[in-house]
Amino acid sequence: MSVLNGKKILLGISGGIAAYKTASLVRLFIKAGAHVQVIMTPASKDFVTPLTLSTLSKNPVYSSFYNEEEQDAEWNNHVELGLWADLMIIAPATANTLSKMTNGNCDNLLIASYLSAKCPVYVAPAMDLDMYKHPSTLASFSALKSFGNTIISAESGELASGLSGEGRMAEPENIVAFIIADFESKLPLKGKKILITAGPTYEAIDPVRFIGNHSSGKMGFDIAHSAAKLGAEVILISGPTNCKSNHSLIKLISVVSAQEMYDACHTYFAQVDVAIAAAAVADYRPINVATQKIKKASDQFTIELEKTKDILLSLGQIKEKQFLIGFALETENEIENAKGKIQKKNLDLIVLNSLQDEGAGFKTATNKVTFIDREFNIEPMELKSKDAVADDILNKIKAYFHE
Ligand code: CTP
Repeated sequence: MSVLNGKKILLGISGGIAAYKTASLVRLFIKAGAHVQVIMTPASKDFVTPLTLSTLSKNPVYSSFYNEEEQDAEWNNHVELGLWADLMIIAPATANTLSKMTNGNCDNLLIASYLSAKCPVYVAPAMDLDMYKHPSTLASFSALKSFGNTIISAESGELASGLSGEGRMAEPENIVAFIIADFESKLPLKGKKILITAGPTYEAIDPVRFIGNHSSGKMGFDIAHSAAKLGAEVILISGPTNCKSNHSLIKLISVVSAQEMYDACHTYFAQVDVAIAAAAVADYRPINVATQKIKKASDQFTIELEKTKDILLSLGQIKEKQFLIGFALETENEIENAKGKIQKKNLDLIVLNSLQDEGAGFKTATNKVTFIDREFNIEPMELKSKDAVADDILNKIKAYFHE
């Protein structure tokens, strides 16, 4: 999944021959999961039709402050368009449009929307080689950079004039790759590594039976996705589950038993900045695992159990720089028990689920949690979907790194 998935992109097209390439650009943005709205300058409509772009973007295309051909024409609100966008790209940006952007010369909807936009703005210039090198164009680039805009440099090659040199608009694939790389480099958890445990563990009784629990793994997988969306590299160590992850930043390590989960956690813990124990690890396992299937014989059957290793406790004992988060599922004396676990397991934050709260716990799509930190600050949260709870947990981690 790309960082552009779900992003709202406002594409401004000005009047250069490269405008014909914006059809591919819109397609690539849509393929990356983005929502696209297009604003064209009047001159650009000579190079690519609004119909092509509205078909590809699945949205109306705007080019003036109102639609002249409509009887009860509505005003096209440039402020709304500018504020709607998560990012704006002007491609191709002609010398004329660059100059208007730098001076605030607001004589069309594209410039009005540009001046209203609060999001990151990218500019992909396109013009002939001498125009591209002209001091006036270079001055426009400097001014736009000083406004915080990002220039996607033109490429070299054959130009519409027949000359060859620098000035061709960057190829649509390169524009998209540039924006993705730029967005990724600015994600708040870029460069951070997070270990997450998820799901149940299965403790074998014999080759066909085990002791397990009802954990679906959803909470841990949701936390992993929220972390990856923020740019963190995730090591997700999960017991048996039906949950799937296809994010390139998530490395999934599948385990079965508490001992396997313990070993995997200790393999990776030293390299991570944060560890979150969301797994429902079995507290006990059979002392003896039968090598053959146990036959039914007597009326009663007893399995002797021994304690598994407490993974979170063991991580708390060796932690150095790591921010350590645990979960607690309690049915009584919730706050006091959770505070006790913070101290016993040397945690920085605990996410408390009370089974007394409706919609909390296993097998539900929702969760109602209370955060308690190591200073015992208590923050009860609303009942939310598990992915919204995951985002709340990641907000705590962001705050830890950025405050
Ligand atoms: N945990 C773990 N390894 C275990 C047991 C629990 O890593 N063997 C982690 C869980 O992932 C959770 C936290 O410890 O983050 C709390 O687990 P919980 O079962 O609520 O508490 P326990 O410490 O097992 O205490 P008790 O069952 O006595 O309440």
